[in-house]
Amino acid sequence: MTTTDTTGTTRTTGPVLQLRGLTREFGSGIATVQALRGVDLTVATGEFVAVMGPSGSGKSTLLTLAGGLDTATGGEVLVEGQELGGLRRAALAKVRRTSVGYVFQDYNLIPALTAAENIALPRELDGVPARRARREAQAALEEIRLPELADRFPDEMSGGQQQRVAIARALVGDRRLVLADEPTGALDSETGEAVLALLRKRCDEGAAVVLVTHESRYAAWADRVVFLRDGTVVDQSVSGTAESLLAGGGAR
Ligand SMILES: Nc1ncnc2c1ncn2[C@@H]1O[C@H](COP(=O)(O)OP(=O)(O)O)[C@@H](O)[C@H]1O
Ligand SMILES: [Mg+2]
Repeated sequence: MTTTDTTGTTRTTGPVLQLRGLTREFGSGIATVQALRGVDLTVATGEFVAVMGPSGSGKSTLLTLAGGLDTATGGEVLVEGQELGGLRRAALAKVRRTSVGYVFQDYNLIPALTAAENIALPRELDGVPARRARREAQAALEEIRLPELADRFPDEMSGGQQQRVAIARALVGDRRLVLADEPTGALDSETGEAVLALLRKRCDEGAAVVLVTHESRYAAWADRVVFLRDGTVVDQSVSGTAESLLAGGGAR
């Protein structure tokens, strides 16, 4: 279902993200790795889902498929109701740019661009005038409390600063789906909590967030925690029971 708001933007009112029977194999023959084995997951508008699981369980694979950065071996990915597998290359690139904000584990900032330019780039690619994109970038830097970094290049920032700039880049614009792969890895716990608060706020404003994390205190910000093991969802819990599950029990 779609609606059109006062600015003429068409919005789907259904789930922001749907994964249906998603599989991903790497390699072939005896060397085949089944990274995902039939994952179903639906994330609604305003919902914050944390994905946890051991190293190699398929968390990053799930996220890259959800963001249209990789192609599934089987099953479907729908972002705002559009099945990514059915899109042509240009249409897929547009979904990636306008609907999806992606925070990579290793930041992926462009070394030759300043912080503000890195944040403004996806907006400019999308046709936002340079001056407005620059204003938005400055506002995003203020939101992550690093306005003084605007003109600095990635190699002039600490790991934690680069991480936060990468998060600002994913949040700028009106992207409905924010995907973050362990975005708190390089952050101290106070800054980590601040980043989680930003993601939570974005959800409350109507985005859907999927966060990969191995830290239960960050997962506690989520509405729901999905546990992956060997490419399969082994458990889903609503917040509240999440903590008891993470503590290894359930019935306490
Ligand atoms: N590009 C790739 N080529 C081959 N194997 C891969 C590739 N990406 C991931 N894998 C394998 O898929 C499995 C899941 O990986 P990944 O999604 O990165 O796990 P996680 O993020 O949970 O640590 C692992 O066995 C990993 O080695
Ligand atoms: Mg990973």
